[in-house]
Amino acid sequence: MFERLAPAAPDALLALIKLHAADERSDKIDLGVGVYRTGQGGTPVFGAIKAAEARLVETQDSKSYLGPEGDMGFVEALMPYVFGEDDPTMDGRVAGMQAPGGTGAVRLAVALAKAAGVTRVHLGVPSWPNHAQILADLPLEMAPFDHDCDDGTANVEALLEVIRNAGDHEAVILHGCCHNPTGIDYTPDQWRQIAEALSMSKILPIIDLAYHGLGRGMEEDAAGMRAVLAAVPEALVAYSCDKNFGLYRDRVGAFYVMAREASALPAIMSNAAALARANWSMPPDHGAAAVRLVLEDPKLTAQWQDELETMRTRMRQVRERLAAAGQVGSLDLTPLATQNGLFSMLALDKDQIARLRADHGVYMAGSGRINVAGLTQGNIDKFIAALAEVAG
Ligand code: LMR
Repeated sequence: MFERLAPAAPDALLALIKLHAADERSDKIDLGVGVYRTGQGGTPVFGAIKAAEARLVETQDSKSYLGPEGDMGFVEALMPYVFGEDDPTMDGRVAGMQAPGGTGAVRLAVALAKAAGVTRVHLGVPSWPNHAQILADLPLEMAPFDHDCDDGTANVEALLEVIRNAGDHEAVILHGCCHNPTGIDYTPDQWRQIAEALSMSKILPIIDLAYHGLGRGMEEDAAGMRAVLAAVPEALVAYSCDKNFGLYRDRVGAFYVMAREASALPAIMSNAAALARANWSMPPDHGAAAVRLVLEDPKLTAQWQDELETMRTRMRQVRERLAAAGQVGSLDLTPLATQNGLFSMLALDKDQIARLRADHGVYMAGSGRINVAGLTQGNIDKFIAALAEVAG
């Protein structure tokens, strides 16, 4: 039977991790998968998470099942950060559940949209490759539109046109902040235009917030999404703590529904729970429990926020250093200073990307995406020189 299976291509981003690990050059540079790195090149566990994990080991008295919704203390503790401190439940219209990482949250959001009748999902491209993979797997029709313009700004007109022309049974995936892979976010004014257009459309917004706090700040990074939520009757939010709490392999995510009215939530969430049960039954507990402990303790919360700010500041410095290089061969690095989060795209072709890897030990996604956190004081000059050589 299995001979019917043609080999599937490995996920290109995840394959890069192994390729980089197998390279024996000591000066290799990893700009591939989206993990934060310190100025020394490591991805340490957050101090606040370490402290919470120690507490968890001491106090956790059972690992018995919690149910498909996971740790609701975690889900609720996150809500003020996502929806705002003033009214985190949006008048009782928001409910959530835990999900296995950002991927699990996106999967659940899109599957629930499908169950509710969505047949076509609009996606600004380029996007995180797994968005398209999840839509294809469900399956749901994916309708691409251009996320960005050649000048490195967001193509808000393309999105507005999609929203204005959408009929029933359509959804659109929006990156809440730190767009993956371009780093090009909508400006506050563009978010206002998007929210206004959405308020007059039937399209369902699905907001993917996977890099909350890695852009401009926790409040700033949520502002665009909140403008949308204030303008529309219904929306779905897929949230990841994998990056902003550094819990990557522990798979910590949350999925939220904003319903037309509070009374609609029990039926909606019962469907979400049924989908979760059939997909993964219950989410992994450990990382979410650690996040809950951080958020329940003001000292640990402050420590976590400091650690996040250190990350943000370092990424901003790397971006400024790259932008200061200006024109490097055919590449203009100036826009990188205004972009947000871990990622930016460089206009390199396949051959140039292959030469960067073979000749200079620089590993980046085949799309031209770089993870700016892979650059340090020790390797950034070498990287810029390598770019000058291949793009010269
Ligand atoms: C990335 O885009 O590199 C990360 O989100 C990791 C992943 O799962 O693809």
